[in-house]
Amino acid sequence: MRYLTFALAKGRLAKKSLEIFEKIGITCEEIKDEKTRKLIFVNEELKLRFFLAKASDVPTYVEYGAADIGIVGKDTILEEGRELYEVIDLGIGKCRMCVCGPASARELLKHHEMIRVASKYPNIAKDYFYNKKHQTVEIIKLNGSVELAPIVGLSEVIVDIVETGSTLKENGLEVLEEVCPLSARMVVNQVSMKMENERITKLIHDLKDIL
Ligand code: PRP
Repeated sequence: MRYLTFALAKGRLAKKSLEIFEKIGITCEEIKDEKTRKLIFVNEELKLRFFLAKASDVPTYVEYGAADIGIVGKDTILEEGRELYEVIDLGIGKCRMCVCGPASARELLKHHEMIRVASKYPNIAKDYFYNKKHQTVEIIKLNGSVELAPIVGLSEVIVDIVETGSTLKENGLEVLEEVCPLSARMVVNQVSMKMENERITKLIHDLKDIL
């Protein structure tokens, strides 16, 4: 039996996904040690390997088959646009992708004005404004703390993740439009799905049973 390899998005999502895997008997003690500098963790008994990667790299590892399975947010899946199968919504890390800004930006959106949109997710922002709203905008790619952009005048609005809404509130911004709901998904390499169909299908069934 060959190893099935899992790529997990680093951070909160990894912790929660490991808890879900534990419920279906898939364990990996080593990976839980926060001090370890190891990059790959093996469960010899079940012939499984796990590694943690930057969220935006998870779809890349899965598309190329370096990982058979990935656990990553829907935001990253949409943004990266990789060829893979999205098989389960794990129901964790629930939040929303939204257009946000000061209340005064509502009018600009309503009248389809040419505005600047800052986002860590330029592809999602572009798809939303161009394909869904048919509004021409200028998209500015940022790498974090996107809420700063409308505050300092870099853009009129942002497209960003809203979870509790407290970042927006504390900075005098609000949700203006909802782009889509988000949560963590399990994705599978297209060849692995065929070659390791039995093991992967069982995994999907077991997960569906406990979710
Ligand atoms: C995310 C997101 C928002 C914040 C939303 O940022 O980009 O800034 O969380 O959460 P809230 O609605 O509960 O306040 P993250 O912490 O990932 O860091 P970043 O801003 O550097 O991207």
